[in-house]
Amino acid sequence: MKDKKIIIAIDGHSSTGKSTVAKQLAKALKYIYVDTGAMYRAVALYAMRQGFINESEFNQEELEKNLSSINIKFEINAKTGLAEVLLNGENVENEIRTLRVSKHVSKIAAVSSVRKKLVEQQQRMGQDKGIVMDGRDIGTVVFPNAELKLFMTATAKDRAERRFLELTEKGENVSYEDVLMNVVNRDHIDSTRKDSPLRKAGDAIKIDNSNLTLEQQFDQIFLLAETTIKNS
Ligand code: DC
Repeated sequence: MKDKKIIIAIDGHSSTGKSTVAKQLAKALKYIYVDTGAMYRAVALYAMRQGFINESEFNQEELEKNLSSINIKFEINAKTGLAEVLLNGENVENEIRTLRVSKHVSKIAAVSSVRKKLVEQQQRMGQDKGIVMDGRDIGTVVFPNAELKLFMTATAKDRAERRFLELTEKGENVSYEDVLMNVVNRDHIDSTRKDSPLRKAGDAIKIDNSNLTLEQQFDQIFLLAETTIKNS
């Protein structure tokens, strides 16, 4: 009998390697991978470009008025086989990963009308199951009935070190202190916002990967996925 397809929801703090393990899992299971953080980042980039948000101000009303002009899609990069995000048809995959965007994105993600628009799109993407989705509210709000829910965490120091390496390898000129501050700030805003705050769903399995290698983490999670698929 053909295996039943399930939904795998991966939530957790920023820079915990959710997307790394989600990509590995999707590849191994031949599932679709959706990075919902990329969708919030693309909306943040739109707001920055329109001048709705900067270091000192955020014009939430203007952003909300213009929500219908924001179109977010994914396209597969033929070389890497990975999905990349399009903002109104433009590939913004690299630009949304910068620290500049990271600094504004949590404020944008706290806006209920932004969340409503993106959550509806995410739910449509998962209607045929066979999907690995990562974010902050996937197991609690987007797919509360997901068959497998994971909640990833690690110390802020470990996460900032990983993110700092990632950014400097890409050539970004950032300081470790700035990256650490951003990780801590984003966790604070994401966990204390009114709408869909980051929290572990009661039935999610917590994975602290501070002391796990990527391989150990993948083996552990893949086994969980296989067992869940077999039992569903
Ligand atoms: O996963 P990430 O760091 O790329 O996410 C960017 C921001 O988007 C993060 O600070 C919180 C927000 N986010 C969210 O609120 N809900 C999601 N499902 C995914 C991301």
